Formats: sequence, C-alpha cells, structure tokens
Amino acid sequence: MRNKITIIGAGNVGATAAHWAAVRRLGDIVLLDVVAGIPQGKALDLSQAGPVDGFCGRLTGSNDYADSAGSDVVIITAGLARKPGMSRDDLLAKNVTIVRACAAEAVRHSPDCVMIVVTNPIDAMVYTAFKASGLPRQRVIGMAGVLDSARYRTFLAEALGVAAKDVQALVMGIHGDNMLPLVRLANVAGVPVTDLLTEAELAAIVTRTQQGGMEIVNHLKTGSAFYTPGLAAVEMAEAVLTDSKRVLPCASYLEGEFGFSGCFLGVPCVLGTGGVERILEFSLTEAERAAMRASEVAVRKQMAATGL
Ligand code: NAI
Ligand code: 2OP
Repeated sequence: MRNKITIIGAGNVGATAAHWAAVRRLGDIVLLDVVAGIPQGKALDLSQAGPVDGFCGRLTGSNDYADSAGSDVVIITAGLARKPGMSRDDLLAKNVTIVRACAAEAVRHSPDCVMIVVTNPIDAMVYTAFKASGLPRQRVIGMAGVLDSARYRTFLAEALGVAAKDVQALVMGIHGDNMLPLVRLANVAGVPVTDLLTEAELAAIVTRTQQGGMEIVNHLKTGSAFYTPGLAAVEMAEAVLTDSKRVLPCASYLEGEFGFSGCFLGVPCVLGTGGVERILEFSLTEAERAAMRASEVAVRKQMAATGL
C-alpha cells in the first residue's frame, strides 16, 4: 500500500510541498484548503505532470477532511503568511484559531499520523497543534530548523565558494531573531568554518541567517518564502515515511532535553516512523545556552498568547 500524505493549506508553501512530495515519490497526496477550487485546481494541474515526470501517486484536491482519512503524515501549512513589516508574532492570533481547527480535524480522520506543522509563528503553532490534536509529543513536529539550517549552509557556502551540500551546519532554538546558528560546529566536509572565515564574516552570516525569512519577505512584498519551506517539510515527511533515522533540526516538545521542559524548541532530532524517535543532546557553551534561554523566553511568551 502506498503512503498517504495530507497537506493542509494549498497556498504557496502547501502547493510547493505537494510538488516536492510528488517529485520525491512519497505516495498519495491530498491537498486540502478551506477555499473551494484552489486545492482541486492545483492537485489536478500537478497530477498532469505525472506522465512527464513519472510519478504515479494519486493527487487529490479537497475541502473535506474525509478525503484525508488514514494519512501517515499530515503537514499543516494553513494560515496567514507574513507581509513586509509584520513579525511572525503578528500572525499568532489569527493562525492559532486556524491551526487548532486543522489539527483537531486532521487527527480525527488520521489518528495514527505524524503531524508536521509549518504555519507561523511556528514554535507556538506546533504547540497549538500538539494541544489540539492530543497526539504524543513524538508525533507533532515543527518545521523551521531544516529551513534555517539550509539558509545558514547556503550563506556559508557562498562565502567559502564551495558546494552547499558539503557544508554541515545546525540552527537551534526558536524560529525568530533569537535563533541559534551554531558557529563552533559548522564545517565544510569536516573542516571547521572558524578556520576558514573571519569572526566578522561569520557574525555577518549568522545575522543574515537570523533575518533570512524577512530578507525574502522584503523582496516578495506580498508573502514569504515557499520553495525551501515546502521542501524542508517534505524532507521531514520523507524521513518519517521511510523510517530513515535522518537527523534533522526540528521543533520538538522538550521534557528535560538540553535542560528545557514543557515547550517546543529547535533541536537535532532522529526522525523515523514514530516521528521524533530521539533527540541528540550535546554540551552547549555558556553563550549557546544563553541563546537557547533567550529562545525559550520568546517561545513561552508566544505559548502564553495562544491561550492554550
Ligand atoms: P499562503 O497564504 O500562500 O497559503 C495559506 C493557505 O492556507 C491559503 O491557501 C489559505 O486559503 C489556507 N487556509 C487558511 N485557513 C485555512 C483553514 N482553516 N483550513 C485550510 N486552509 C486554510 O501562505 P504560505 O506562504 O503558504 O504560508 C503558510 C504559512 O506557513 C504561513 O503562516 C507562513 O508564515 C508559514 N511559513 C512558515 C515557515 C517556517 O519556517 N515554519 C516558512 C514559510 C512559511
Ligand atoms: C521564513 O522564515 C516566513 O518564517 C518564514 O521564511
């Protein structure tokens, strides 16, 4: 039997995730949105790429959660996106209502799913989905770290003039200004970037990474990034569906890991069929710990604002 993936929200991120999921042959895909016609049209269009691309999974566009029944993975992208001048927090009040409803409906039809949440502000929205779905913490995961780390790796590769895939670098913490791109652990094929770039160059790359989302919003003016966010969510879904044990940075509900409890924060996770099967803990420096604490403070403020 083929895997089934439901993507809720057929906007920029959702439709792009459907595209990546089809190209990566993840299985049958349901694209679901509150607006009539949009998911149907996009799913039909994408399904007609099958003969050219070669994928043979079924693509369904729908406004009805019944079509999502029995999904192995549910990706939530429904909600408003940022416009210039808007912070991720500005989105919170509107998106909490949307994500709460989507998570509750999705789990009613797919009680065994792993839920990947993309909607911003992500650290509060994944908490919202966790509360609304009642799923165990391992099966509700926030997407941000794969995107932020990809941005960090891209900027490092550019500065070094090397292939981005050979740059390994990790971003932890909140998906916001207090995120923590780890400089000490970043490397190119094992060579530390601290031996290749100056402190000033690295500091500029860290700042650009922290502001990477807004840099794109300022270009687009009418919305936010979607190509890499869509792929990042699919990368996580693929790790779950193939039980690959990939280690990807994800927002995971912490119960003591890294000294934090009762909130979602970006940490390196081992992903498999069960969702977050393990969190890879390691020693942080005092400065890194302080950055994680700043992330925690900001996340807890967002969590309080959800009213959950
Ligand atoms: P978009 O505006 O293109 O699409 C959002 C879609 O959600 C629309 O099609 C809308 O009709 C749908 N929607 C709204 N309410 C719904 C409901 N109750 N049920 C089903 N669908 C509903 O926005 P885009 O660019 O796709 O972004 C989606 C979300 O993802 C935003 O909140 C954005 O900030 C967030 N995002 C998060 C990232 C991350 O790193 N976690 C990266 C990029 C975007
Ligand atoms: C991003 O980082 C908007 O959070 C989104 O691109």
